[in-house]
Amino acid sequence: MERGWLHGEGFLLCLTLHLLLQGRGDTFSINCSGFDQHGVDPAAFQAVFDRKAFRPVTNFSSPTHVNVSFTLSAILEVDAQLQLMTSFLWLNAIWYNPFIGWNPEECGGIRKLSMAAENLWLPDIFIEEFMDTDQTPRGLMAYANSDGHVRYSKPMRVSSICNLDIFYFPFDEQNCTLTLSSFVYTAENMVLGMEQDVQEISKTSQNIIGNKGEWVLQGIHQRMKKTTVGTNVFNKIIFYVAIRRRPSLYIINLLVPSSFLIAIDALSFYLPAGSENRAPFKMTLLLGYNVFLLLMNDLLPASGTPLISVYFALCLSLMVVSLMETIFITYLLHLATTQPPPMPRWLHSLLLRCTSPGKCCPAAPQKGNTGLGLSPAHLPGVKEPVELVGKVPSPREAELNGCPGSARAQQEDEAQKQHLVSLWVRFSHMMDTLLFRLYLLFMATSITTVIVLWNT
Ligand SMILES: *[C@@H]1O[C@H](CO)[C@@H](O)[C@H](O)[C@H]1NC(C)=O
Ligand SMILES: *[C@@H]1O[C@H](CO)[C@@H](O)[C@H](O)[C@H]1NC(C)=O
Ligand SMILES: *[C@@H]1O[C@H](CO)[C@@H](O)[C@H](O)[C@H]1NC(C)=O
Ligand SMILES: *[C@@H]1O[C@H](CO)[C@@H](O)[C@H](O)[C@H]1NC(C)=O
Repeated sequence: MERGWLHGEGFLLCLTLHLLLQGRGDTFSINCSGFDQHGVDPAAFQAVFDRKAFRPVTNFSSPTHVNVSFTLSAILEVDAQLQLMTSFLWLNAIWYNPFIGWNPEECGGIRKLSMAAENLWLPDIFIEEFMDTDQTPRGLMAYANSDGHVRYSKPMRVSSICNLDIFYFPFDEQNCTLTLSSFVYTAENMVLGMEQDVQEISKTSQNIIGNKGEWVLQGIHQRMKKTTVGTNVFNKIIFYVAIRRRPSLYIINLLVPSSFLIAIDALSFYLPAGSENRAPFKMTLLLGYNVFLLLMNDLLPASGTPLISVYFALCLSLMVVSLMETIFITYLLHLATTQPPPMPRWLHSLLLRCTSPGKCCPAAPQKGNTGLGLSPAHLPGVKEPVELVGKVPSPREAELNGCPGSARAQQEDEAQKQHLVSLWVRFSHMMDTLLFRLYLLFMATSITTVIVLWNT
């Protein structure tokens, strides 16, 4: 038992010594004579290839420095529902392998050799936010320098989890993180560094992505971080990828039509209040708006409540309110022209005060014939209003009826009724104008609020 243990220890010691001796001393561990004439001799690299399972250092207490960088080449998709950003990037890593090294003078000036990456030790750099299976293609190559530096690049399709906030859609900016870290190596075995300046990474990526897709890369920022898991400390590099949505598609397809529809809705108040077209027109508009929302639903983010949805709901409510207003005014006009109720004194005086010239209230532009000059044709349900309100029986007619006294009373009655009707009609128009102004005020404030929110 004890002998066996001693034996094992001796074997380990031997192995370590062997490894140490082989790597130490000469910096050129590879005999490259004849590379320039006979090609690379695989046997010369066999010792390196055999060691690929172990971290290539001569002294295991010293860490391997791996410098990393990446180039973002495309932003394929940003999914607000799954909170994923799918991008395509090239990950570069460079590290020092002390067992690869040759003297370029002896080898016909060869300074750089490419070799299959699967034969070499590779740092296990991964992206923490990665939420997909690794689809790295097989058979990638690595470049080894004559001084022992190995450079390795791999393309990656990265679906990374990202905290997406779509409140400001379509004017939103997102700040996604890509955290590069080693999977197993702790900070004492592997130290991560930057291969390139982050500004350079940002600039290269911006040039490569170009200006075509929906998302614009605004910039990349970077921060070093150490995290402790249990007793292990891990080295991390966090990259902040700031992207901005190009809003033109959404402005053209969502905001402009919606704004036109709501503008037409506001303009429809200029249709005469008594006309029979106003309510159907608004109803058609409302229907059109609903169809528009149904069609454009696909363009909206599938989850969350962006401000634009609030805006649409607001427009829809405004249209419904304006339709309700029209129904109310139509009802009021109908009531006024068929059976006008007695007008309260305060309302009468208010009406007189407001409509007297030079005073506060409305002389709405659309109603050239407000009040007493009311054109009968504009009254709903009244084919020939003169018959109803304005018909004053001629004296001769009254005489024919055979009771001049009652005729006079009737005449007065009719005149009073006509006055009442005109007062109520005037009131209706005044209400219409007032409600229209309230509507405009509400529309202006709510839309301004939405715009201000968008700009913050
Ligand atoms: C390299 O190998 C060649 C034969 O393959 C041998 O002649 C030469 O001495 C070797 N050089 C060194 C520095 O070991
Ligand atoms: C290995 O590295 C450690 C720390 O850097 C050092 O103390 C030790 O002497 C080194 N061992 C050898 C054999 O060089
Ligand atoms: C990594 O970067 C640091 C600082 O830029 C540099 O000193 C070091 O030599 C680099 N290491 C490798 C393996 O390139
Ligand atoms: C992204 O978020 C990080 C941390 O929240 C912050 O430090 C960084 O400045 C942000 N970057 C941008 C461009 O907003």
